[in-house]
Amino acid sequence: MRKTNINELALFGGPPIFNQVLHVGRPNIGNRQQLLNRINDMLDRRWLTNNGPFVQELEEKLAAYLGVAHCIAICNATVALEIAARALGLAGEVILPSFTFVASAHALQWQKITPVFCDVDPLTHNIDPLKVESLITPKTSGIMGVHVWGRACPIEALDEIAQKHQLKLLFDAAHAFGSTHQGRMIGGFGDTEVFSFHATKFFNTFEGGAVTTNNDDIAGKIRRMRNFGFAGLDNVVDIGTNGKMSEVSAAMGLTSLESLNEIIGVNHNNYLAYSSELDGIPGVQLIRYAENEKNSYQYVVLEIDENVASISRDTLVEILHAENIRARRYFYPGCHQMEPYRSNFPDAGRNLPETEKLTLKVLQLPTGTAVREEEITRICALIRFIFANGTKIRSELTLGI
Ligand SMILES: Cc1ncc(COP(=O)(O)O)c(C=O)c1O
Repeated sequence: MRKTNINELALFGGPPIFNQVLHVGRPNIGNRQQLLNRINDMLDRRWLTNNGPFVQELEEKLAAYLGVAHCIAICNATVALEIAARALGLAGEVILPSFTFVASAHALQWQKITPVFCDVDPLTHNIDPLKVESLITPKTSGIMGVHVWGRACPIEALDEIAQKHQLKLLFDAAHAFGSTHQGRMIGGFGDTEVFSFHATKFFNTFEGGAVTTNNDDIAGKIRRMRNFGFAGLDNVVDIGTNGKMSEVSAAMGLTSLESLNEIIGVNHNNYLAYSSELDGIPGVQLIRYAENEKNSYQYVVLEIDENVASISRDTLVEILHAENIRARRYFYPGCHQMEPYRSNFPDAGRNLPETEKLTLKVLQLPTGTAVREEEITRICALIRFIFANGTKIRSELTLGI
């Protein structure tokens, strides 16, 4: 059912175009029977966690896929970031973008490392390397780049700065599983990279993540830290935590891996459908992915320029939510506007003008194997209708108030 009059919008009392909520990151399941077979094997073995055979197999397969020497599976990416930061000896201050999920900053602050927020390049949404150096102080121990939307952040420029100032370089690659940079898989850059395999990521292990590195020493430390600091039976050599991935998660990971190309194919088709159907709306742009690089296309990101578009990002989100399209405003607000950073650094926004603008512009639309192409056509038709009638909608909203 297409809307032809703004009074038919659910926000103004009409029926929503979808009866069920469409989510941005509805989990991809892969081959259910394969997963159940693996879970049966696991139960037969009675080996449920503690570096079991599924975890070992997953680590080997991921390391081979990513072309990296070590892949250490962890219970989630937040704990993986915490462990990676410790293994690298980060302390004092670490520079990272504010335009990221709050876990990037929390993983540092949780261990009393101060996150120092850097502005982004508005074109790439990634940390702006030109603004990094001025944030370095005698307390700086490292830089955390984030590959936002799976598009590689400026790896070489950050590497140069890190080497010049003898800083560690760590990447939050939570979005970047399956992405390349200059043809090389993300995973082997910097001192370590950290992936998230959370249920909402296109490749998931229910909850999960991994640290990857080509450095044997760092890998050894991370393995011990993941397991309470054990270096062998009864031998604890340092402080550690419980960051282990369970067997059931690894079983899901192995199963997801078998469907990886299929899932990326669906995401890519969805992206192309959005791209052709949303083309040409004034002030509205879908972010682009370089055609000569791999990407999972798990994020369909719209950027809405309020000065040109007929309605704002937030009004669009409100209308879409009423229609049961649960578009999300990642990353809004920026980390610097969340606690405890907002109170600790009340003036941080002054150095983050591009971040502040960007957080008001972006939204993500539903994709993944749970979204059908026909649904995308309806979402896009609705979005076109909303922008075509933006002025009327705005005045209706004003009158309503
Ligand atoms: C950029 C970024 N970093 C870290 C995380 C945390 O991942 P996890 O949920 O696996 O802890 C996320 C989760 O979405 C993320 O988007």
